[in-house]
Amino acid sequence: MSNIEQTLSIIKPDAVERNLGDEIKSEFLKNNFKILKEKKIKLEKQEAEKFYQVHQTKPFYNDLCSYLSSGPIIVMVLEKEDAIAGNRKLMGATDPKKAEDGTLRKKHGLSIDKNSVHGSDSLENAKIEIDFFFKD
Ligand code: CMP
Repeated sequence: MSNIEQTLSIIKPDAVERNLGDEIKSEFLKNNFKILKEKKIKLEKQEAEKFYQVHQTKPFYNDLCSYLSSGPIIVMVLEKEDAIAGNRKLMGATDPKKAEDGTLRKKHGLSIDKNSVHGSDSLENAKIEIDFFFKD
């Protein structure tokens, strides 16, 4: 049975700043993701705090929110079979140092904070995150 899913992807400020947006988008397309929606925006810190509220008790929360709101980001809705797991595999481990060869974070990430891309970690969070950016 097919299991077409949608997931939210963010190209983070470190990657947008280095003009990696088109290259990362082409990697999604090469891996058979459809880019259903896309926009380039800059978040206010308060908006980043809302987006990352699941991490609000973590010691890195404040820095994480400052960073995500530090410059433009590209947010996308990606779709394919098993998109959530597929995107997480394509991104690689959160820490680029631990990410497998060929993954986006291994290729482009600079550090655990500046790890170039975000992807939803579950179907439930994908719905919440897609609504956060694209509910109109
Ligand atoms: P992301 O997938 O966007 O989700 C939360 C982010 O927190 C994560 O990527 C990392 O960039 C960032 N982060 C910073 N420090 C840590 C840490 N120690 N463990 C996990 N994530 C971290």
